[in-house]
Amino acid sequence: TELKYIRNFSIVAHIDHGKSTLADRLIQLTGTVAERDMKDQLLDAMDIERERGITIKANTVRIDYPAKDGHTYILNLIDTPGHVDFAYEVSRSMQAVEGSLLVVDASQGVEAQTLANVYTAIEADHEIVPVLNKVDLPAADVERVKTQIEDVIGIEAHDAVQISAKTGLGIPDVLEAIVQRLPAPKEGDRNAPLKAMLVDSKYDQYLGVIVIVRIIDGVLKKGDRIRMMKTGGTYDVDDVGIYRPAMTAVDELGPGEIGYLNASIKQVRDTRVGDTITHEKRQTAAPLPGFKPSVPVVFCGLFPVDTNDFDDMRDAIEKLALNDASFTYEMETSAALGFGFRCGFLGLLHLEVIRDRLEREYDIDLITTAPSVIYHVHMRDGTRLDLHNPADMPDMTHVEHIEEPRIKATILVPDDYLGDVLKLCQERRGIQLDLTYAGTRAMVVYDLPLNEVVFDFYDRLKSISKGYASFDYQMIGYREDALVKMQVLVNDEPVDALSMMVHRDRAEGRGRAMCEKLKELIPRHMFKIPIQAAIGGRVIARETLSAMRKDVTAKCYGGDATRKRKLLDKQKAGKKKMRQFGKVEIPQEAFINALKMD
Ligand code: GTP
Repeated sequence: TELKYIRNFSIVAHIDHGKSTLADRLIQLTGTVAERDMKDQLLDAMDIERERGITIKANTVRIDYPAKDGHTYILNLIDTPGHVDFAYEVSRSMQAVEGSLLVVDASQGVEAQTLANVYTAIEADHEIVPVLNKVDLPAADVERVKTQIEDVIGIEAHDAVQISAKTGLGIPDVLEAIVQRLPAPKEGDRNAPLKAMLVDSKYDQYLGVIVIVRIIDGVLKKGDRIRMMKTGGTYDVDDVGIYRPAMTAVDELGPGEIGYLNASIKQVRDTRVGDTITHEKRQTAAPLPGFKPSVPVVFCGLFPVDTNDFDDMRDAIEKLALNDASFTYEMETSAALGFGFRCGFLGLLHLEVIRDRLEREYDIDLITTAPSVIYHVHMRDGTRLDLHNPADMPDMTHVEHIEEPRIKATILVPDDYLGDVLKLCQERRGIQLDLTYAGTRAMVVYDLPLNEVVFDFYDRLKSISKGYASFDYQMIGYREDALVKMQVLVNDEPVDALSMMVHRDRAEGRGRAMCEKLKELIPRHMFKIPIQAAIGGRVIARETLSAMRKDVTAKCYGGDATRKRKLLDKQKAGKKKMRQFGKVEIPQEAFINALKMD
């Protein structure tokens, strides 16, 4: 196909504004999938994605579209993730295409991720077509949202396409706009040495690693011997093809095209996103600039509730890591929790997704320790320790100072809730950088410690704004602050899984809240249990869980032996979800719930 009949594009949107629904409609209208095979949200393959309605892994699809000008165009859509944790994936997928549809919910308007994603598209030099979705809703206000796009984002919106992805209204206009308003691929010389961009890769249980490529120059065919220019790996191509959206083999992929290759690559880790793929025999002289690898920023310990599950858990984690190069793990032993793993994630959502998959797909009950960020601990002897786990915090007498990562957070919120949002940011040690208005919505920018955000910031923000605030962030670097390690002691035994780094001024409040929560979460025992929070040797908060008065079988009046045994059995079963700490049993939920701060 000639380049002028190809359009490569992505769809950028805030979460829930209808990106996946629009993709489904485009696929459906062009007959790419037979009507009977059409499922909602075709591109979201994984169950968790479907349930949570979020797109995690970028996908791609090729659509043939006979345009009004009489020519049939090839439209390659790259689906990008919508959530803040996956901003990096968005930015890399964008490099592979020339244009974007900017989808904005006409009843909601521009949100924080709309901004973040559209700026990424602008940085990638995209032509952008604004699309106002959900015009079927009574609350849709097309004129207001157009003005907002122009004021807040700064792009023309008078000729925005108005659609309802739900009813199908306006979808033909979107297809025409793609063809007429988005540019054809720029480069492309069939006869030049192969130069292809590695856009993404994923692990397929049956086929091994599948690599998504965008061809810039040259032609890629089955049987070719290829070379990854950055990693140096060489492979024989078993298959090339396109997604429509089912995998469909093709003879070759030429300039401007997007498709997949399969070359018996064993692990996703061998495929570096942004790498240049070329032919082993005839290499391109100008590899692509390439990208930085994504690095985990949030860490936590994952331990099996049942220690017998450890081997299964290791297998499961290894399998997950094959499919997700941005997830890291190493073995960890905890005095309280036994063997487990210290894992690194791109953000909190990423953490939740991995944890859910371990629990659901692999059927392993897990204890998650407090999420932590990486602290730079500067020692008196001049060395620096990168602390991933509060349990490894050295004695404060050897520490010169501690630095923590900070983020720049952008929050969009309706006027009415602004006061509460500012209060929340202030409580979380934020420094206000900017405050502007777009109509009745405020845009606030804060410099915040990442550590204060990883706990429950997003949940709090949503609840105080009744779901109307949106949030996005980027890392801005490290800064020194008065940070200390807080320990929790239950019955005088330190529970390392509950240790955390906190700011000195916030330690007492956190400690008190933690002790109060634990008092509710730990069942009574036959003896009195002190619950304490401490910094170093100094106790800063304390609660006492009083002893149980009678044992549970007492109410059976000693009479009915079967009933008594049943009760004891029931107690035993209940114990499975408990962990023993010295003489005290702590239920699994206590670990998770104790960490949720109000
Ligand atoms: P992610 O892919 O997870 O980022 O979300 P998304 O932007 O793809 O949103 P999605 O397509 O999942 O749509 C979110 C919700 O809005 C779903 O419940 C859709 O059914 C609904 N929705 C999408 N388009 C329309 C529309 O035109 N009108 C109405 N009324 N609802 C819509």
